[in-house]
Amino acid sequence: RLSSTKELLANAEKEGYAVGAFNVYNLEGVEAVVTAAEEEQSPAILQMSNVGDDIISQTLEYRVLEIHPSAFKQGGIPLVACCISAAEQASVPITVHFDHGNSKEELVEVLELGFDSVMVDGSHLPLKQNTTYTRYISSLAHMKGMLVEAELGRLSGSEDDLTIEDYEARLTDVNQTAEFIDETGIDALAVCIGNVHGKYPTTGPNLRIDLLKDLYELCSKKGVYVVLHGASGLPKELVKECIVHGVRKFNVNTEVRKAYMDSLCSPKKDLVHVMTSVKEAMKAVVVEKMRLFGSAGKA
Ligand code: G3H
Ligand code: 13P
Ligand code: ZN
Ligand code: NA
Repeated sequence: RLSSTKELLANAEKEGYAVGAFNVYNLEGVEAVVTAAEEEQSPAILQMSNVGDDIISQTLEYRVLEIHPSAFKQGGIPLVACCISAAEQASVPITVHFDHGNSKEELVEVLELGFDSVMVDGSHLPLKQNTTYTRYISSLAHMKGMLVEAELGRLSGSEDDLTIEDYEARLTDVNQTAEFIDETGIDALAVCIGNVHGKYPTTGPNLRIDLLKDLYELCSKKGVYVVLHGASGLPKELVKECIVHGVRKFNVNTEVRKAYMDSLCSPKKDLVHVMTSVKEAMKAVVVEKMRLFGSAGKA
């Protein structure tokens, strides 16, 4: 059934687990998430992004095209309709979220399409402009009853060869957070604590759990939920630690996409066989994440 992201995150906060937000690109992806949620009796968030996949997942081996259109540009309104309809018909609470909205003009239009929540991504902008941009979209989205997520700091791609100074400069600054929340009125904060889109370096993720603790403390006081992008590639123990320290929404893209692509690479008999195989491959990843995030059994 169609639910609200607000309700899903409020329940997660109450019981100390996290909800998975899975990036979808087509009907098979939508069905993979919804059937996984039903089987696991888990709430879930279907999300599509308007950021090109080359930006979201910079390190995939199968990145061959120069330009990747975003899921939203690719699937458009039919894909949004597919998500909403699948959510409505599901036996568990599912919501539909717009991920990485980084263009004001586009977001204003997107707000009319029936999403329940939106990420205003002004992380490419200097703080002042990020605040102004986020506040503007936030006020419009709130008039529609949507939950608003925004990002403070800047997520790195794992290919970026960052110096220690650059790594630290991109982390969420706890000293800017209270004012950013107050001025924008956001409901959820995507934090940058060393998490990255795509793969983590072979040396493993370098997550600043101490910073997460501070951010969670501050966010809880303001009634704002903590979101972690770049959940693909995080070791299980680290995911659990993040949940203990307040993460209530994990964004998962790369691992689901990889399952799809790997499945395509094994021989198939026919088109329908291809479609069911990729769906099952994606579903297996989603199920694993729902159990890890603790949302399984919480529908
Ligand atoms: O980090 C999330 C907040 O603790 C959520 O606060 O339960 O008061 O809405 P709330
Ligand atoms: P991953 O590709 O690392 O799972 O990140 C997903 C994400 O943050 C989408 O917004
Ligand atoms: Zn993201
Ligand atoms: Na990642």
